[in-house]
Amino acid sequence: MTYEKAAEAAEFIKSKYSGEVRTAIVLGSGLGAFADELTDAIKIPYEQIPGFARSTVEGHAGQLVLGKIGDVAVAVQQGRFHYYEGYDMEQVMLPVRAFGLLGVTNLILTNAAGSLNSDMQPGSLMLISDHLNCMGTNPLRGPNDSRFGARFPDMTTVYDREFQEFAETAAHDIAHERFEKGLDETMVDFLNRGIYCGLSGPTYETPAEIRMYRQLGADAVGMSTVPEAIAARHMGLRVLGISCITNLAAGMSGETINHEEVMDTGARVAEVFKELLRRIVAEMI
Ligand code: HPA
Repeated sequence: MTYEKAAEAAEFIKSKYSGEVRTAIVLGSGLGAFADELTDAIKIPYEQIPGFARSTVEGHAGQLVLGKIGDVAVAVQQGRFHYYEGYDMEQVMLPVRAFGLLGVTNLILTNAAGSLNSDMQPGSLMLISDHLNCMGTNPLRGPNDSRFGARFPDMTTVYDREFQEFAETAAHDIAHERFEKGLDETMVDFLNRGIYCGLSGPTYETPAEIRMYRQLGADAVGMSTVPEAIAARHMGLRVLGISCITNLAAGMSGETINHEEVMDTGARVAEVFKELLRRIVAEMI
């Protein structure tokens, strides 16, 4: 049933947009503004797409935007489905699977995340080099449909190396250009590589948990991305992951963590974030 659902969603999207979409982008909390950058855009509310759930979180618009960035046709998920909202993993993975069946080969996953590394401050971005699945389950648990991929998918390289290079080159160029223009001297190292630890949420972590995840090798924690990255690799899509560091993780700053802060930081980095995505998309053919 899952395959048929994803195929139906893909057919529906195809009937609304004729462009050949090779790249899809999932926008995380507070990062939705990138969808406004698309030209000749059409917007499809999730409730119209067969099989799609509704996005219930503030800061997630809940629509699919299709259009162009420069010459490149893209599909942008303005808002995603999270496990903590109560959706089962099939629903969380459905959009990525629909993209795969639509012909998408490149997937950019973005999210808001807490930093476990005091060198990585709020307002910076983290290039996800690998992840820890600490969500308490694996999204592919259950019968395998081999039309999606193998029973035991390899996870040696979840995050595409070449895409990481595109991102690092683009970040370097942006930082240099901003510095030259005297715009922001603190932007020099705004994109750091790190390990993203995916948790189920919806609570933020305790300080003891953060110490544990740090010992396990995490650089940032968040409540998304891992299921979508796994679904994408199952289908053989190439994945890029970027976290917007919105806060220092629990116990690190003496402050409490709240969703408003997460949203505000997203808005603060929007300009640089949009420019970074624009340049990366242009390289991903
Ligand atoms: N923990 C988990 N998820 C998050 C955080 C955090 O500190 N910040 C943004 N998303």
